[in-house]
Amino acid sequence: MPNTPRNSRISGFHRMSPQERRDTVAGFAGLDAAAVERLADTGNLDAGLADRLIENVVGTMNIPLGVATNMKVDGEDVLIPMATEESSVVAAVCNAGRQCYETGGFTTSLSGTLMIAQIQAVGVADPHAARLRILDRRDAIKEVCDGCDPILLGLGGGFRDVEVRVLETAGGTMLITHLIVDTRDAMGANAVNTMAEKLAPRVEEWTGGRVYLRILSNLADRRLARAHAVWHLDAIGGQGGGEAVRDGIVSAYQFAAADPYRAATHNKGIMNGVSAVVLATGNDTRAVEAGAHAYAARNGSYSSLTRYEVTKDGHLSGSIELPMAVGLIGGATKLHPTAQTCLRIVGATSAERLARVIAAVGLAQNFSALKALATTGIQKGHMALHAQNIAMMAGAVGEEIERVARTLVERGTVRIDVAQAVLSELRGA
Ligand code: MEV
Repeated sequence: MPNTPRNSRISGFHRMSPQERRDTVAGFAGLDAAAVERLADTGNLDAGLADRLIENVVGTMNIPLGVATNMKVDGEDVLIPMATEESSVVAAVCNAGRQCYETGGFTTSLSGTLMIAQIQAVGVADPHAARLRILDRRDAIKEVCDGCDPILLGLGGGFRDVEVRVLETAGGTMLITHLIVDTRDAMGANAVNTMAEKLAPRVEEWTGGRVYLRILSNLADRRLARAHAVWHLDAIGGQGGGEAVRDGIVSAYQFAAADPYRAATHNKGIMNGVSAVVLATGNDTRAVEAGAHAYAARNGSYSSLTRYEVTKDGHLSGSIELPMAVGLIGGATKLHPTAQTCLRIVGATSAERLARVIAAVGLAQNFSALKALATTGIQKGHMALHAQNIAMMAGAVGEEIERVARTLVERGTVRIDVAQAVLSELRGA
């Protein structure tokens, strides 16, 4: 029988209930009843809430939530909730935290809680004069912006400054207005986007141009989180001694600082830690990631977000600086019950504290990755958990998982075909 072509034009899909959508998708994709039932299990997120958070919901996607220990940030011990599907990420933070715990842990700071909104005006006849006309109207701009969000104003936030750039582009000269807004404990996207939209007609009036885009910038470089730690030689010393580990880490940093190919991987490791906390607390992982990578390229060449150097006493000093647009209020942070619980675990009562802790996690993650890479290699640490995943993929269940995984590691070959063979041996097949 010829297959009828499948049709993705499904009328009224968005109006269906999640169950109706699941049934429709099951018909389209040929899902069996067990798969549909698993989709229907929304775990710790209420199905109704999930259905309101995004469109066309059919289920939820659960990933493991771990807690990193050993972290001390600004003199205070802290447990770090981390949502990630990648093995070794949580362990990396624990290890880095343990190795600098006795010498004070991490010290951090935040440059401020300022976000930037951009208003793009095109077709301005006299862009340089128009720039001054906008700057001259700072008070009027402040009034419009602050009028948008009295609650933010009441919390001590609101409009802080206006900047205007004359930008040469392939489409001609554009006039780009930046609104600088203190969004306090909010990530601030909604607040600044509202202000930009509200101000846009006035910008058209003042410039004689036409406004297109009115949106925040994810390059949140007025919201830079910084963390620093010193790892003593005796704490990091391995087989080759602390000096060898220290020098390997400094050299790994120098490699990343000089080479975008390495920097991409180096920073990916940092974001393994950062994004896991951002996600666990219901914040916007893509916003933080976009900001981090744009900041890493701010000097024209993509480079490392961390730096390592040797202290005058010969110890290893590490530091990190990256934009950290996270909040405690709004969106999933407020609505997702697990995000709320994670905020309680991490004990952050301000967006500033959360941002600072996350910067420390990024540095911790990077320290552990570089240490492993510069010494034993990354695979050794990965293998134990990876072997368990492979054992499960080969069909091992219950106690078989650990036994198959151990055999794979002992044999030094973590592959699915080997796991299947080991499982058959174990089951006496
Ligand atoms: C893997 O997810 C992350 C690392 O590649 C980071 C790095 O190379 O620095 C290990």
